[in-house]
This record gives sequence, C-alpha cells and structure tokens, in this order.
Amino acid sequence: MSKDDELQKAILNNIPDQAWLKDKDSRYILVNDAFCVACGLPESDILNKTPIDVWPADWGCEYIDTDRRVMEQGERLRYEEWRHTEDGTLRWYDTIKTPIRNEQGEVIGTTGISRDITDRKMAEEDLLESRSQLRELSAYLQSVREEERTRISRELHDELGQSLTAIRIGLSVMETRREMQDDEWLQNVHALKKIADSTVESVQRIAADLRPLILDELGLPSAIDWLLESFAKRNAITCELILPSTPLAFNRDISTAIFRILQESLTNVSRHSHATSVVVVLKDAKGFVTLKVTDNGDGFDRASSRKDGLGLIGMRERAFMLGGRLKIQSRLDSGTSIEVHIPKGTSSDSGEEK
Ligand SMILES: Nc1ncnc2c1ncn2[C@@H]1O[C@H](COP(=O)(O)OP(=O)(O)O)[C@@H](O)[C@H]1O
Ligand SMILES: [Mg+2]
Repeated sequence: MSKDDELQKAILNNIPDQAWLKDKDSRYILVNDAFCVACGLPESDILNKTPIDVWPADWGCEYIDTDRRVMEQGERLRYEEWRHTEDGTLRWYDTIKTPIRNEQGEVIGTTGISRDITDRKMAEEDLLESRSQLRELSAYLQSVREEERTRISRELHDELGQSLTAIRIGLSVMETRREMQDDEWLQNVHALKKIADSTVESVQRIAADLRPLILDELGLPSAIDWLLESFAKRNAITCELILPSTPLAFNRDISTAIFRILQESLTNVSRHSHATSVVVVLKDAKGFVTLKVTDNGDGFDRASSRKDGLGLIGMRERAFMLGGRLKIQSRLDSGTSIEVHIPKGTSSDSGEEK
C-alpha cells in the first residue's frame, strides 16, 4: 500500500459511519472498518465484489439500483433506509451517495457514506408517541371536565332545585293558610327544616366532590383520611394509612397533586383490581414527598398492554409538572403499587401544609 493509500485508509477508518467507494459496475474499491463490521465480512471478502455478494440479495439489488440512479442523474442522493440486522432488530441509516468523475467529467463510480440513525429515529418515534398521548390526554381531560359539569349541573338541578322548590311551596302553604293549628304549623316547620338540612348536606357533598375543603382547611393527611374512609365504605375494601410522624411541610400544589393521584389510583383499584385491601403510605423526607398506594388485587401485565391508559398518563403528567416521577409496579396476581415522588419547593406557591 502506498503512503497515500495508507493516509486515505487512516482517514476512512477514523469515520464512525460506513464509508465506501465503488466503480461503475458497483464493485467495491475501498471500504472502511465500520463498513466491514456492518456487513460482517473481512475487507478481503468485500473488495472487487458487488453489493449482491456482500449483503442479502434484496438489499444488494436495491443498492445497485441506487448506484445506477446516482450515476445516471450525476447528482448526489441522500435518503433514509432501514434494514433488519441478523439479530432481527430494525436499524435505520442516513445514506449519502455521490457520483465520482474523472478529469473529463465522466462518471466512473460512486462514493457513499451511511450513518446509523436508529437512536435518533427511536427518539423521534417516542416524541411523536408522547405528543399523541398528550393530545389524547388533553381531549380526555376536556371530556372529563364536560362530564363533571354535566353531573354537577344535574345535581344542582335535581337535588338543590327540588329541595328549594319544596321549601318554597311549604312556605307558601304556611303563608296562605294562616288558620293552621299550632300543631300542624309546627309539623310544617319541622318538615321544612328537615328539607333545609338535607339541602345543606347536598351542598356540602357537591362542594366536597369539586374540591374537598378539608384539603385546604385541615391539610393533606386529613383529606387522605377522609378520602380513604369514604372509599372503604363505598367499596368494602379495607384501607390502611401510614403517615409520617412529623408534621408535613410542603405547598398546596403538591398536596393537590398527591390528593388527585391518590383519587385516581383508588378509582383504578375499585374499577380494575378486585383487591380486598389497600395500603397508602405518605412520606416526607430528604426533600421529597412520596405517596405509595399498594393493593392486593389482580395486578396487570404492563408489558402486554404497552400503552398506558389516560388515567395513568394523567397521574404521571401531574407528577411531572411538579418535577416528580411516577413508578408503576404490577404483576398478574401480585397486586399493583403506584409510587409518586415529588421534590419539595419546586413550585412558586409557598403556602405551607398544616
Ligand atoms: N390497581 C390496578 N389493578 C389492576 N389493574 C390496573 C390497576 N390500575 C390500572 N390497571 C390497569 O391499567 C389500565 C390503565 O389504567 P388507566 O390508565 O387508569 O385507564 P382506565 O382506568 O381508564 O382503564 C386499566 O385499564 C387496567 O387494566
Ligand atoms: Mg383509571
């Protein structure tokens, strides 16, 4: 090998991408180390051979076709292509082929370089996937909001509207029938008081559904306690709550996120798990708030469902928005645990938890 050839070779081998030079008949004249590794052959088995001898036949034919195209058009061609490697994985390449000309300007071959862009492609796919998840999530949240409004409007109309109408009618009766006996009058007043009491209860329930005041007034532990109590009552699932011994110190955004994530996890436990017990652990240590919800139900196989539902995505996004993380652990027949870690003090709201 002459000094020039050695230099050329050194430069070529320094390139991490596959690089080659071919003559007019697509025979390899020069290849670098990365090329030899990619086709799994030593240089001596590649030189003077065509792509059909070196690569699987269908790719070989394709490579010869593109060589021809580049030589006929006399122009550089750049394109993305993919191949399945021997272990069956799909790899993507960004390939550039350029015609080589002699001093008279006639095309005498091609040179090419091909870069493995699989990681970039995967990242692009992940990005597209996560964009579409976010779009779905946003549509879902919108529909949930609409549903919630419909439900609240119905409750206001059906429960409060009816009660207030009943009170109104009762008062009118008392107003028009002045001759009413004391007994009867008192009975009417009692009946109306009862309706008023149940109206107050309805208002409290509807308000608590919207945002439990207890969360703002008594803090997260009490709100969780209240949530678990009503969950246990409605679902016949025993709930255990483990709280830190020291008072909590984190802001309202974190409390809200933890509360909503717990609500969503409990909804999943009651809808999907067939569990008989749930353990909820809240920790506040080392700059992180941690919530772990573990049920003893059916569990699910995350690998087989690949895509999480919007409930799980929503929980993850809530944690993410506060710089936190959500960990889901589940195996068939071994229950499920959802764990959220949120760093304290990332939010501008500094209202402290009581
Ligand atoms: N605690 C759980 N136990 C068993 N399966 C669960 C549990 N939580 C979630 N899953 C499974 O994960 C899926 C996705 O949950 P999610 O994202 O909340 O969507 P959805 O509740 O609307 O189905 C559920 O359909 C269910 O199969
Ligand atoms: Mg759900």
